[in-house]
Amino acid sequence: MDTRTTTRHLLGLRDMPKSRILGLLEAAESYLPVVKGQASPHDDLQGHIIANLFLENSTRTRVSFSVAAQRLGATTIDLLGSTSSASKGETLVDTGRNIEAMGVSAIVLRTSASGGAHLLAQHVDVPVINAGDGRSEHPTQGLLDTMALTQHLGTTDLEGRTIGIVGDIAHSRVARSAAYALTTLGADVVFIGPPAMVPGSMTELTGHDSDGQSVLHVSHDLDAALPHLDAAMMLRVQFERGANITSDYAAHFGMNAERAKRMPEHACIMHPGPINRGLELTPDVADGSRSVILRQVTCSVAMRMAVLFEQLAH
Ligand code: CP
Repeated sequence: MDTRTTTRHLLGLRDMPKSRILGLLEAAESYLPVVKGQASPHDDLQGHIIANLFLENSTRTRVSFSVAAQRLGATTIDLLGSTSSASKGETLVDTGRNIEAMGVSAIVLRTSASGGAHLLAQHVDVPVINAGDGRSEHPTQGLLDTMALTQHLGTTDLEGRTIGIVGDIAHSRVARSAAYALTTLGADVVFIGPPAMVPGSMTELTGHDSDGQSVLHVSHDLDAALPHLDAAMMLRVQFERGANITSDYAAHFGMNAERAKRMPEHACIMHPGPINRGLELTPDVADGSRSVILRQVTCSVAMRMAVLFEQLAH
């Protein structure tokens, strides 16, 4: 199997063709035994140095990119916003060009600036992998979420499936990337949350199905949606981006055991992390049998291996 393409950079999923998504899912699946320690690491990227340029905090994304790179034989350097010269006012483009001039093979970028990954990609020749830029996109998260979900459902054909993305949609790059990938594979996506967090314009993010209907829907009633969901993807309330919630947020939009029971038996519960336990979902649900949250994390290494291989192994 060969997922190499002539596509340089991974900036977003909005326009990613279905064939490329399926190729990455297949490649990532093949890497899972390596991630789980059941197969030997690869050396396809030996000699490559990957720069993790993280100007915004991260646990899962930064570590999983490092693990993924090491499982492919590459080495990584981490440059963090707080300890880099970005803290002295150096621009993103200057920072990226200086790192490129040191001979790194790719830059994995996390930034609070929406559009930051596209901007950097216009100014460097090495591949730029968007590890989350502001409210814009978090494409590897969307891909790994899709991987965890399709594993759970046992199929990559999501026609007829309905996925609820619940919570702070307005601030969420995860919601956007997941919605692009899931709808490309045929799913209907329902954005669920209070009106201030789920603007009606969210239905315009993607195209329409063959009947001219939007494949994106908006609901402000989680309880009404529950029986129709094949998965509920709970999102973190992003207080650092100015999210405001009322004291009854969890009562209306939090996942708990009683709500989980009202979902179909096969449906799973997801969260990209980090979790505000007790707010977006209760601890018993986060750690319960319907949760695929840690599966998402395992998939994250496999998917990031697939992405790094796609970008660099040629
Ligand atoms: N899901 C996610 O992006 O988590 P981190 O912010 O910890 O990387």
